[in-house]
Amino acid sequence: MPKPRPLIAGNWKMNGLSADGWALADEIVRQAGEGTGPELLVCPPFTLIGLIAEALANSPVGLGGQDCHGDDAGAHTGDISAPMLADLGCRYVIVGHSERRTDHGDSSARVRAKAAAAQRAGLAAIVCVGETWAEREAGRTAEIVGGQVAESIPPGSTAANLVVAYEPVWAIGSGRTATVEQIAEVHALIRRQLGGQVGPGSEAVRILYGGSVKPANAREILAIANVDGALVGGASLKSADFLAIAAASPPG
Ligand code: 13P
Repeated sequence: MPKPRPLIAGNWKMNGLSADGWALADEIVRQAGEGTGPELLVCPPFTLIGLIAEALANSPVGLGGQDCHGDDAGAHTGDISAPMLADLGCRYVIVGHSERRTDHGDSSARVRAKAAAAQRAGLAAIVCVGETWAEREAGRTAEIVGGQVAESIPPGSTAANLVVAYEPVWAIGSGRTATVEQIAEVHALIRRQLGGQVGPGSEAVRILYGGSVKPANAREILAIANVDGALVGGASLKSADFLAIAAASPPG
């Protein structure tokens, strides 16, 4: 089974106003070339999605949201639905990021509803999972990540509408990256579990690593078995760093 085409996704989080968001997207498009390497994706804040859609027009760089509601429409003040994201040209949406799980109390059941909404709208859901440092220290990594995968991924998911991102909470924004062994172990666990949950074709579901990925460590991380790309936070805010991470992907 050949490795799936890697996906390098930039999660801009709550960063960027119009001018700098446009400049960043524009630089990425100019430097990205023909799109022959890994698939590139940027996930700006909601306020910039319309603008960044214009900056990315006719380029191979894809657009995604950072979250969506589990319903398609309705009385949910301040929320954004998956059809709204699709309407603006998004192809992906991140759901279950640990910052949403922590800041907004997103349970795995709610994450599954969000992922299902994304898939109904024709988007691919990037479902994030990952343990805290306390959970790792307590030897509970497999239980926590396995549980999140079991509960957060909707039935009927396929390689076309599901990406899983393993982001150890303690490695996010901390400059502290998981070791090659730690990443390999958890990605293998997720791959095995997807075999049961997604069934035939599960080898093609991309499993991204996220947590302090930067140009200096990208090559080592992206070469690990069952690592099919990266979900990049801080380093995705500098076009040169984001593109350097993409360039470190093994050739497909
Ligand atoms: P950092 O790359 O800033 O650690 O963030 C990772 C992340 O949370 C991406 O979703």
